[in-house]
Amino acid sequence: MITARNVFSADGRMLLAADKEITESYIRRLQEMEVYAIYVRNPLFDDVEVPLVVSEETRIQSMQTVKRAFEVLRNKREDVSFDAIQGVARRIVSEVLRNRRALVHLTEIRTHDDYTFAHSVDVCGLSVLVATHLGYNEVRLQELAVGALLHDVGKTKVDAAVLNKQAALDDDEMAMMRSHTMFGFDILRCSKGKLTLPSIHIALQHHEKYDGSGYPRGLSKEEIHEYSRIVSIADVYDAITSDRPYRKALEPHEAYELMLVNGSQHFDPQILPIFLKRIAIYPVGTVVRLNTGDIGVVVSVPPEMPLRPTLRLIMDKQRRLYPGSIEYDMQNHLTSFVDQVVDGRELLKLI
Ligand SMILES: [Fe+2]
Repeated sequence: MITARNVFSADGRMLLAADKEITESYIRRLQEMEVYAIYVRNPLFDDVEVPLVVSEETRIQSMQTVKRAFEVLRNKREDVSFDAIQGVARRIVSEVLRNRRALVHLTEIRTHDDYTFAHSVDVCGLSVLVATHLGYNEVRLQELAVGALLHDVGKTKVDAAVLNKQAALDDDEMAMMRSHTMFGFDILRCSKGKLTLPSIHIALQHHEKYDGSGYPRGLSKEEIHEYSRIVSIADVYDAITSDRPYRKALEPHEAYELMLVNGSQHFDPQILPIFLKRIAIYPVGTVVRLNTGDIGVVVSVPPEMPLRPTLRLIMDKQRRLYPGSIEYDMQNHLTSFVDQVVDGRELLKLI
C-alpha cells in the first residue's frame, strides 16, 4: 500500500509523507504513536478528490496554534498571544468564504491525542460556514471564528482522568466536566481586551440548549447568543462523528438523523436546517448500496442535491464486479435511492 496523504502528529510534525510505500516497520512505528488509521491510495479511485472547506495545511497549522494557546492558558506562566489565534481564525474565514458553496465531507482521521485541537478547528470551520449562509460580514465571522477555536479552552482546567474516562461519569465528575464552560469564560475574560465579549461568551454558552435544558445557566432561545447557537450545532455534530474513548463515531448519515430528531429541542430551528444543508450525508468515499442492489462508491456530491451523489459502480446485486469504472449519476436516475451504507472494509473482502 502507498500513503495517499501526509500523516501528522497532534503537534503538526510529519510522521510519514504522502506517496510512500507503507512497510511493516512504518506500521509498527505508527501504532506505537497511537496512529490507528491513515489514508492509502487505491488505484480504482486515484482520480477522486475530496473537496475541503478548510485546506489540510490551514487545519494542521490551526491545530498547532490552538494547542500552544491551550498550553499557555493552562499554565498561565506567560501571556498567551491571541494574535496567533486571530491569525488562524482569519485564514479559516477567508478559506471558508472562498469555498462556501461546497459541502462538508467529514473524512479527517483523528489520532487519539489530538482530539481537542482537531475538534476546535473543525467546529470553527463548520460554524463559520453556517454563518456565511446567515449573511455574516467578515467582522462577525472573525469574532465567531476566534470564539469557536477557543470554545473548549476551559477543559484545560478539568482533570485529565475525568476528560478521558472511558466509563460513564459520576455526579461529581459530571459537574467537573460541565464546569469547563465557566472555566473557559473566566480564562478568556482575563484576555486584556484582545477578545470581544460575544467571542468569549461562546466558551460559556456552547452547551446551552434552545429549549433551556442545557448548562451552565439553562438559558433558552434568544437568551443564548447567536454565535453560541451556531457553535452548539457544529460542536454536537463534530463530536458525534468522532471516535471517542467511550464510543465509536457515527457515520454522517446517522449523525444527520440524530440531529434532525433532537433538533427541535436542542437547536435553533432557523439555523439547524442551514447547517444540515451543508453536510454531505454520503461523503466522497462512502460505499453505498442502492435500492437496485448495485453497490458503488461516492465520487462526487452535488451541493444542491446531496442525496443524489455520483457513484462509481463496483458490483451488481448478484455480486458480479462491474468492469472498469462505470460512473452512475443519481441525478439522472431519479427512481434509485441509497438503501444502505456499506462498511468499506466488508467490501474489500468481496472484491
Ligand atoms: Fe464543550
